[in-house]
Amino acid sequence: MQQIIITTPDDWHLHFRDGDMLGETVPATARCFARAIVMPNLVPPVVNAKLANEYKARILAARPQGSNFEPLMTLFLTNQTTKQDIIDAKNSGVIAAKLYPAGATTNSAQAVSGIEALYPVFEEMQIQGLLLLVHGEVTESHVDIFDRERVFIDQYMAKIVQAFPELKIVFEHITTSDAAEFVLSSAGNVAATITPQHLLLNRNDLLVGGIKPHNYCLPVLKRSSHQQALRKVVASGSNKFFLGTDSAPHAKHAKENACGCAGCYSAWSALELYTQVFDELDALDKLEGFASFHGADFYGLPRNTGTVRLDKKSWTVPESVILPSGEPIVPFFAGQTVNWEINHA
Ligand code: DOR
Ligand code: ZN
Repeated sequence: MQQIIITTPDDWHLHFRDGDMLGETVPATARCFARAIVMPNLVPPVVNAKLANEYKARILAARPQGSNFEPLMTLFLTNQTTKQDIIDAKNSGVIAAKLYPAGATTNSAQAVSGIEALYPVFEEMQIQGLLLLVHGEVTESHVDIFDRERVFIDQYMAKIVQAFPELKIVFEHITTSDAAEFVLSSAGNVAATITPQHLLLNRNDLLVGGIKPHNYCLPVLKRSSHQQALRKVVASGSNKFFLGTDSAPHAKHAKENACGCAGCYSAWSALELYTQVFDELDALDKLEGFASFHGADFYGLPRNTGTVRLDKKSWTVPESVILPSGEPIVPFFAGQTVNWEINHA
């Protein structure tokens, strides 16, 4: 197939950051996605409805002229989050809350230690119909970083799912066959997002021939068999899996550093790269479900009505993007060829 037209997609997991950075990140996503779930791990984090709505206003102000892009706001759970915070969030249009185990990733130091202590909050989320979005990795230092997602399933995820059968739970950016199987075997209230990097790459792409800091993200890339398992579930067309780029910009100097930050800034190429993966899998007919339908259906939101056309045409991702602050950032897949191109005509 040389061309594909799909319903306008949404990105069910990304990081816009704040301030000047919004002038870069919001237009990059609005170029092809109608809506996006905006992660709340700012400094300080978005812990209540007021902060979420102020953040939303800043995102809306950064939209390109004429854009109808809609940010979908989330709350950052902490051990101080109350039931009232959840009720207020629901009443002000926030649609989900994010569980980061403390220390699991970028700007998560203030997050949750002692997940069971949050059960009353999950209970209120279940009542209010707020979704629970989970960064599913344990953070105990004795657990090998490549095992942290698998261990999280047994230690926490399975228990949360069992305790809250009516709570919609998204296992975010899954990276292992264990997570894919867990989601597949769970009831209809459990789904997962999958990033482009975890479909395209495995840990060799991070570590062979020198460390590749721009392929470093969390959860970290896993071995090839896990990558293949993720490719298999998206090619199956299962409605439990949907598009979430986890596009997460960090300035070039922060990535190319003795202690480099985790995150791939994929907004400029993500939809094209997903298309490439589905093409490689001979599953282009499953792309629209993954990119445009499954997420909206799971969240209980209307499907988009517009369309996006992708052409099989090669282009090269730029080596760098200059932020409004003047700092460079290296986008995901920089300098590499992408086989599909969005048609903006
Ligand atoms: O690689 C990542 N980057 N994973 C996350 O969970 C957070 C994100 C970020 O905020 O940079
Ligand atoms: Zn993320």
